[in-house]
Amino acid sequence: MIELSTYQQRRHRLAEQMQAGVAVIPTAPERSRNRDSQYPYRFDSYFHYLTGFAEPDAVLVLVAGETPGSILFCREKNAEREVWDGFRYGPEAARDAFGFDEAHPIARLDEMMPRLLADQPSLFFHLGADSAWDARAVGWLNAVRAEVRNGVVAPAAIRDVRVLLDEMRLIKDVAEIATMRRAAEISAMAHRRAMRHARPGRHEYEIEAELLHEFRRQGAQAPAYSSIVAGGGNACVLHYVSNGGMLRDGDLLLIDAGCELDGYAADITRTFPVNGRYSAAQKDVYEVVLAAQAAAIGAVAPGASWEDPHRAALKVLVQGMIDLGLCTGSVDGVLESGDYKRFYMHKTGHWLGMDVHDVGDYKRGGEWRKLEAGMVLTVEPGCYIRPAGDVPEQFWNIGIRIEDDVAVTEQGCEVLTAAAPKTVRDVEAAMGAAA
Ligand code: GLY
Ligand code: MN
Ligand code: MN
Repeated sequence: MIELSTYQQRRHRLAEQMQAGVAVIPTAPERSRNRDSQYPYRFDSYFHYLTGFAEPDAVLVLVAGETPGSILFCREKNAEREVWDGFRYGPEAARDAFGFDEAHPIARLDEMMPRLLADQPSLFFHLGADSAWDARAVGWLNAVRAEVRNGVVAPAAIRDVRVLLDEMRLIKDVAEIATMRRAAEISAMAHRRAMRHARPGRHEYEIEAELLHEFRRQGAQAPAYSSIVAGGGNACVLHYVSNGGMLRDGDLLLIDAGCELDGYAADITRTFPVNGRYSAAQKDVYEVVLAAQAAAIGAVAPGASWEDPHRAALKVLVQGMIDLGLCTGSVDGVLESGDYKRFYMHKTGHWLGMDVHDVGDYKRGGEWRKLEAGMVLTVEPGCYIRPAGDVPEQFWNIGIRIEDDVAVTEQGCEVLTAAAPKTVRDVEAAMGAAA
């Protein structure tokens, strides 16, 4: 659990980095699915990172400089709406419960913003993320500018608040890592459950249901992204999410699924045989991907470059592709020509955190950035073999990815998702366990 004081400290740190000016950070809107039905509500990650406040229709205004302060705008109490939609804090209770200096009804935002921006040097805002918010911000600025003849100074600069926040979010603290560890454990249990329930004749959606069942029964609020449950050749479609196919004897099943727990994502992929035993050809490709993943995880340590795990994985994958007859030539030659991209067309990972593809630059000053303790990334090499005349037929429709979540530590790294089986032996044993 993230303590109230942690959110206060984050606001304090952000204000320090701003030095002066006012940041405006709205949460996400509720989104209509169709007619009276809404998508399940998910707060904005930046807003939640700074507040812990999960209601829609809320905005954080953070004032930096000599008289700093944090102000929440949120929905008012409303006895009738609360009968229909449930509890809402209202400004007063939210201020006390979440440690803001002030809180006001969201309906007063447009009226109060020009006053809050008067005589401030900068507005920190994410211009361009949402045109309706952009128009409101321009309205506040113009309202301040209209007062210049009365001696008011309008902000001269609009700065992207996310540049500062991305760097803060990239380095996770102990409580964030603990939440991510738990999200990873729950997701690993879901993959184990999927392994127990997979068998020929079942449908991909039945296995998806087992994943969701485990996520929710363990207290995770939602999947962190649309689960991919892809049997046979469907595994060669990287973003396959229809999950409607039937599982066939002799096929592999690729599952890419992770839960979101208290705002933090897990992201795991496992690939296992529908009938419980890898065929010789499947095992050949699987062992290559597994070795590539081990090499990549071995390259995760503080001081290593972001690109090191990818390079380590590629070397092993390309050697494997040559050994299996998928590519010809030398490792360096295939790396140089990019022939491997026919079978491996994505990178080996991404930052992971509140968002599954989390924030944070991958390069700094033109160089891949160095890994630091507190960063969390995925390591997810794969090999996807579509039928083609020049590809050995025994490998057709084999699509394999193995993905773990790895936290960089002071000493090296911690694989948060280690409880999800991945050696051939461990997977086959997990599949044999009673459903
Ligand atoms: N599940 C999304 C990804 O692996 O990047
Ligand atoms: Mn991923
Ligand atoms: Mn994934």
